[in-house]
Amino acid sequence: MIKPRIIATGSYVPPKVLTNADLEKMVDTSDEWITSRSGIRERRIVERDVATSDLGTQAALSALEMAGLSAGDLDFIITGTNSPDMFFPCTSCFIQSKIGAKKAAGFDILAGCTSFIHTLSLADKFIREDPQRKVMALGAEIMSKVTDWKDRGTCVLFGDGAGAVLLTGEEGDRGVLSTHLHSDGSLWELLYMPGGGSANPSSHETVDKNMHCIKMAGNQLFKVAVRALAEVSQETLEFNGLKSSDIDYMIPHQANTRIIEAAAKMINFPMEKVYLNIERFGNTSSATIPIALDEMNRSGMLKPGNLILLCSFGTGVTWGGALIRW
Ligand code: ACO
Repeated sequence: MIKPRIIATGSYVPPKVLTNADLEKMVDTSDEWITSRSGIRERRIVERDVATSDLGTQAALSALEMAGLSAGDLDFIITGTNSPDMFFPCTSCFIQSKIGAKKAAGFDILAGCTSFIHTLSLADKFIREDPQRKVMALGAEIMSKVTDWKDRGTCVLFGDGAGAVLLTGEEGDRGVLSTHLHSDGSLWELLYMPGGGSANPSSHETVDKNMHCIKMAGNQLFKVAVRALAEVSQETLEFNGLKSSDIDYMIPHQANTRIIEAAAKMINFPMEKVYLNIERFGNTSSATIPIALDEMNRSGMLKPGNLILLCSFGTGVTWGGALIRW
C-alpha cells in the first residue's frame, strides 16, 4: 500500500528575540502574568524588511536539503498563512519564485492556526492521486506585523516563524494515516482582523481605528479551543481504532500551555508525551506544528513507526487533527 510520507522537514525562525522582560517595557504586563497564563517566555520577531515568504523560503530550502532534492523536483507548494506577503498573489508563489521551483503549482490556505493541518490534508490527497508527486506543505507567519503592540491581551502571545514538510508517496505503512477538518463560522468574532478586506477596505479610517490588527476575545476562545482540541484528538484516535496510550507523541497547536494541558486532561493524554516549544516561540499560528515537527525530527526524537497525533484550532473558528506514522 502506497502512503503519503513526510520524507523531510525544515523550519526557520528569525534571530531577534523579544522576551517577556522586553514586553514589560512596552505594555502594562509582567513576566509572571505571561508565563503563568500562557507558558510563553520569549518569541522571535522579524526585522521591518522581512516578508512571510522569506521565512517560508528558508524552511522549504532546509527541507529540500534534508531530502537531497532540488526545488525543480517539487510538484506543489502549499502554504498555510494568515499573514501573507500581500493579499495577492499568494505567498506560495513568492516562495516558488525564491527557491526556483519552476514546475510546482503554488497556492495558500487561510484557515487560521489550523491551516497547516489543511495543507497536510491536501498534500495527502494530491499524493494519493499520484504517488510520484512531491509536495511541500508549509505554515509560515509574521504575526508581529498584524499585532497591536498596545493591546496587552494579544501582543504577548504571538511570534514569527515558518515550518515545512516535504511529502511523497512511499510503499509501506508509514505516512499520513488520516486528517480531520472542521469549522464553525458563527464564532468568527472570537478572533479576527477587520481591516483591509472587502468588508472594510483599507482607508485612513481603518488605519486610524487600528483595524489591521488582531482583535481577540481570549477568554471565550480559550474554552472553545480546549473543547476543539480534545474532540478532534478523540475523533482522530477513534477513526484509526486507537487509544491515547497507543500514541507516542502529541504535537498540539502552541497557543497556550493551559489550553493544551486542559485538552490533554479531557482525553486522558499524559503531558510527558506532548511536545511543547511555546516557551521559546509563542504562538506562530500555522507554523507552530511544522516547527515542532522539524525540531523533533532533527533532534532524533522521532523513530520510524512512531505514532504522532497533530491537533490544532484557530480563527474561523477552525479545528483539525491528523495522525502520522513516522
Ligand atoms: N498582562 C497582564 N494582565 C493582562 C494581560 C497581560 N498581558 N492580558 C490581559 N490581562 C488582564 C485582563 O485585562 C484581565 O484583567 P481584569 O480581570 O482586571 O479585567 C485579567 O488579566 C484576566 O484576563 P483574561 O482574558 O480573563 O485572562 P485569561 O486567563 O483568559 O488569559 C489569554 C488570557 C492568555 C489571552 C487566554 O484567554 C488565551 O490564551 N486565550 C486563547 C487565545 C488564543 O489561543 N488565541 C490564538 C488562537 S489561534 C489563531 O488562529 C491565531
